Amino acid sequence: MLLIQLSDSHLKADPAGLYRDVDVQARLSAMLASVSRHQPDLVVFSGDVSDDGSIASYQRVAKQLDALGCPWVWLPGNHDHPATMADVRPLKTVIHLDGWQIILLDSWIDGEEGGRLGEEQLARLETQLADDASPALIVLHHPPVTVDAAWMNEIGLEDRETFWARLDRYDHVHAVLCGHIHHEMTCLHDNVPVMSVPAIAAQFVPDSPDFAVDSHAPGGFRLVRLSIDEAQRPRLSTRVEYLLSKV
Ligand SMILES: [Fe+2]
Repeated sequence: MLLIQLSDSHLKADPAGLYRDVDVQARLSAMLASVSRHQPDLVVFSGDVSDDGSIASYQRVAKQLDALGCPWVWLPGNHDHPATMADVRPLKTVIHLDGWQIILLDSWIDGEEGGRLGEEQLARLETQLADDASPALIVLHHPPVTVDAAWMNEIGLEDRETFWARLDRYDHVHAVLCGHIHHEMTCLHDNVPVMSVPAIAAQFVPDSPDFAVDSHAPGGFRLVRLSIDEAQRPRLSTRVEYLLSKV
């Protein structure tokens, strides 16, 4: 099963709107043309779909994702407006595919750049893992780890220690995917890989102490192949594909 993760398109209501000098609508269209060639079984959009929370931006993305002809889901980032997103396409919390469970978390806080999962959602996550022993992949917008860009840690996931504490007693979470940091990253937390994906919109400079944008860096998406082998072991392989066009 091939899952493709997309993130941070930062679309505006105006299709010609720019995000930090990047024509985000053109980037999204070019990205989806590349995604389509891989014929994914599922596309997961890990937030900041819109930059202004407008219904027009969500409707445009939904129409383009529908055209891929495969199931797709999205979850909110700090720039999104979850209720407007949900009006266009309901927000899902778990999907089962080929023996895996994909758990989608909502780290959005009204009016803030940082994220938080909150007690209710963390309790639901724990119940899900207790009730379902199938190999799990968790996706959320804010990275639940400290990253190398100091400024970004100020707007990370506030309750990340509680998140990991809740996962402590389960050994069937095999990876966590996130967006928000606008560049590729992989790190380990308690032997669980945490991976981010490049933004569709402009990239942030990965290890800068202060906020810095590299609007010339290419956007990209993450391919994640999930399966269960003959010995019933879960298998995950992943790579990032960058968009080489100049949009
Ligand atoms: Fe973003």
